[in-house]
Amino acid sequence: MEKYPGKINTAVFISGRGSNLKSLIKYSKKKNSLIKIILVISNNPDAEGLKYASRSKIKIYRNKNKSNFENESLKLLKKYNIDLICLAGFMKILSGNFIKKFSKPILNIHPSLLPKYKGLNTNERAIKNKDRFAGASIHKVTEKLDSGKVILQKKVKILKSDNVRSLEKKVLKIEHEIYPKGIDKFLTNL
Ligand code: GAR
Repeated sequence: MEKYPGKINTAVFISGRGSNLKSLIKYSKKKNSLIKIILVISNNPDAEGLKYASRSKIKIYRNKNKSNFENESLKLLKKYNIDLICLAGFMKILSGNFIKKFSKPILNIHPSLLPKYKGLNTNERAIKNKDRFAGASIHKVTEKLDSGKVILQKKVKILKSDNVRSLEKKVLKIEHEIYPKGIDKFLTNL
């Protein structure tokens, strides 16, 4: 932690609804939180979550020209001295070049108990496979999709009465709970 005295300048990347973004903004406003959200970046110009970020008076960047997303983002990350990126429902795969150039930590939240169910439709696959548990994981982002070191996970029981929607809802609830905790855990162990 000596590496970063004070709150860490953080950017959140989103693609859609932004409920995890909301939970991170709420957490960042707490006196003892370790991050300050300076910037929200979306690869989808119509992402619902951008509205909430604007209302919270956080700078936003909505990418309109797909081909320059990474370069434009890197410029802003530098401009605002961002030291941490949190991906929150960000559905675009970042290139190895981007990860190398940013050169600081990138965290992600994923709706499964990694290493199970990388990629999409995680809860659907857990139900189809008759798993007893689903869950969410906070992990470091590397070049390999959903494969970086897991920082924190939490399980939720899959009931016989669950369908994909109800399970997604339960998993999302624990996502909101563990993302701030995972960030704390990661930053205090730096
Ligand atoms: C969340 O369930 C998040 O874990 C998932 O997308 C949803 C976004 O919801 N992310 C991924 O699947 C990334 N591979 P939100 O926009 O309401 O935070």
